[in-house]
Amino acid sequence: MEIKEIKAIRVLDSRGVPTIKTFVKTENETGSASIPSGTSAGLFEAYELRDTKSKDYFNLDVSKAIKNVNTVINKKLKGKFVLDQEDIDNTLLELDGTDNKSRLGANAILSVSLAVSRAAANELSMPLYQYISRLNNNNNFKDPTPLSNIINGGLHSGSNIAFQEYLIIPKFKEIEDSVKSMSEIYHSLKNIISKEYGPSSTNVGFEGGFVPNFKDVNEENPLILIEKAIKDAGYTRKEIGLGLDCAANSFYNEKEKKYFLNNKNYSSSELLDYYLDLIKKFKIKSIEDPFFEKDKKAWQEFSKKVSSSINVVGDDLLVTNPALIKDAISKKYCNSLLLKVNQIGTLTESLNAFNISKKANWKVIVSHRSGETEDNYISDLAYGINADYVKFGAPSRGERTSKYNRLLEIKEIKS
Ligand code: PGA
Ligand code: ZN
Repeated sequence: MEIKEIKAIRVLDSRGVPTIKTFVKTENETGSASIPSGTSAGLFEAYELRDTKSKDYFNLDVSKAIKNVNTVINKKLKGKFVLDQEDIDNTLLELDGTDNKSRLGANAILSVSLAVSRAAANELSMPLYQYISRLNNNNNFKDPTPLSNIINGGLHSGSNIAFQEYLIIPKFKEIEDSVKSMSEIYHSLKNIISKEYGPSSTNVGFEGGFVPNFKDVNEENPLILIEKAIKDAGYTRKEIGLGLDCAANSFYNEKEKKYFLNNKNYSSSELLDYYLDLIKKFKIKSIEDPFFEKDKKAWQEFSKKVSSSINVVGDDLLVTNPALIKDAISKKYCNSLLLKVNQIGTLTESLNAFNISKKANWKVIVSHRSGETEDNYISDLAYGINADYVKFGAPSRGERTSKYNRLLEIKEIKS
């Protein structure tokens, strides 16, 4: 069960941008993993190493990250026992030696960390979710609740809508029922949008959600359309919740300390009041990144006002970083973690981020990135740690459906 060779190659993500895919070989098995990438990234995410000075792929190539895997990392980890995940992850951190993984690149490090766990699961002839559950001492399994982004705004589309994601939250116990409702609501939404805004408005954004060409700029418009789609598809609001990922970093003006949406500027407290209105009007159950990541006072006040009535989700605020999560728990900035493996860079640290959050009674959402690959590692991760929610995008586009489909498959393997 020793590592014999580690080899990385260049593949493309769903935006057509290069990313890294790594293979970890043992005597009898191979495990691989390819790495996602964000568009609206938090300021303190682990460092994604790209060839910023090369003309190849318009400065976005990952040849340095690939080289780091194929040389230094391969040399250092050769001969390691593949089941020693924590030791391997710690060795990667030591080898990098920086706080944000900027020497070797978090993309390089994560690709190895995840591929090691797949090779280990293969060695034990175990499905990946089961191996991850073993690593995290978890014996409980339930189907996660999906948050599905069916209208895309912000930096994920060319639309005039500021909020990045309008999410439906099917509240069914079984993932099969959740997937069915998502698909049906998605198609009834497509019909509504096509009739009201024309067929070109049914083109989709980075995460598979529609990007309607709204004539008037109003963040309520998508919510109105989605409520109608839920009804048209035959579902009730009791069965289907609504959520937002505002990704407020992307519409905050740091100089003026104002948020720009609905064609006007909002102060932090005006925006807070606006959110309270939306929550009431549309029965919103989950709000992610409602404020700029450094506007901590606003986070705190908002969390105090809504208490545990909704999920206040930290994404850019927390960047899956155990130290930032601990700080947010003690200062009550939010009550839920968005867990993105590439924000922190190893499996061990990701599990740590999860465990710290659960200990504080937070909810945890395992999430994709806007730049994804067909790799569905995060489905096994979510199921293996018994995450409360998953955020995998719309029920369309292969890189998104591959994650939902893997959840369906896991159910079949398990039964
Ligand atoms: P990103 O967006 O992958 O572009 O960061 C996803 C999110 O903000 O949740
Ligand atoms: Zn987000």
